[in-house]
Amino acid sequence: DKPPVLVTGGAGYIGSHAVLALKDAGWSVSVIDNLSNGSRDVVPEGVAFYEGDIADRALVRRIFQEQGIKAIMHFAGSIVVPESVEKPLEYYRNNTVATHALISEAVENGLEHILFSSTAATYGAPERVPIEEDDPQLPINPYGQSKLMTEHMLRDASAALPFNYGALRYFNVAGADPEGRSGQIGKGSTHLIKVAVEAAVGKRPHVSVFGTDYPTPDGTCIRDYVHVSDLADAHVVALEYLIANPETNLTANCGYGQGLSVLQVLDAVDKVNGTPLKRDMGPRRAGDPPLLVSSNRRLVETVNWTPRFADIETIVTHALAWERKLQTRNRPFE
Ligand code: UFG
Repeated sequence: DKPPVLVTGGAGYIGSHAVLALKDAGWSVSVIDNLSNGSRDVVPEGVAFYEGDIADRALVRRIFQEQGIKAIMHFAGSIVVPESVEKPLEYYRNNTVATHALISEAVENGLEHILFSSTAATYGAPERVPIEEDDPQLPINPYGQSKLMTEHMLRDASAALPFNYGALRYFNVAGADPEGRSGQIGKGSTHLIKVAVEAAVGKRPHVSVFGTDYPTPDGTCIRDYVHVSDLADAHVVALEYLIANPETNLTANCGYGQGLSVLQVLDAVDKVNGTPLKRDMGPRRAGDPPLLVSSNRRLVETVNWTPRFADIETIVTHALAWERKLQTRNRPFE
């Protein structure tokens, strides 16, 4: 049984890949997106598109009624850690307050299941890796805190109201659709692999390495990079789980359980690109934990997630192919 799904932020990077994964698997999909950081161009044909804000309750009500929505995949939000330090109230508004409005309206219109984009940033600077879901959640920036508050809101609301929820805590999402249908558009990119492939196509003169004195083997930060299409697949199987188990919730990490340093990532980009990028060794960036690696045992065991692209060169190959495609388009994404 595949009820109609509303994807919030479905014109954005991760949301658009979830839309593709749902459509490819035969689901009926609608998108709400305010286009603050997304593009209509990556929303495929056959998807009902609503331009607007998730906090616009009249709009959310209309979508539920017109489309018979029963489930939400909720991606819309703000995601840049350093920006959250500069603009905390914007992050609490976009990630916490707006979600409150969305859920409130959705519940009144028959919401049964919601899957929420949470983040490894809710763990802060963890004491041990690989991180397990029941490890302490002590965010070190407003971004992580705003997402953690929403997890708590969903937990409490789902206990009292007739819907269940999933919270997937993403590690470092990268790459692009292997068929080239979507990818990261990058209005002011900050993420390492995106920045590196922009440098590889000549959009940037070099890549800055933020900190070389971390307590890691090569002195640079270690992260668990996960391919966006594997992440999208995880959402589809997680939603199937929520539908099959309406009395159960699901909180799960989404990463591969393999850590790579900044320099290892740049080595992979050099290899795929065939020429070395200029590296600019610089100071640490505020708010970066040295080491984030996921245990993904729960996701694999609970929903039988089977990643297809768990290899850094594959991730980089797809990211670079998309970047080249962006460069050769005759008009920018809008
Ligand atoms: N980095 C560089 N140079 C750059 C960009 C990044 O050296 O130009 C470094 C960062 O300092 C960090 C690593 O590369 O050590 C990864 O940084 P990203 O900006 O790509 O990603 P973050 O780890 O900061 O954050 C991402 C998401 C968050 C999520 C987190 C969880 O943006 O939403 O992963 O692991 F919470």
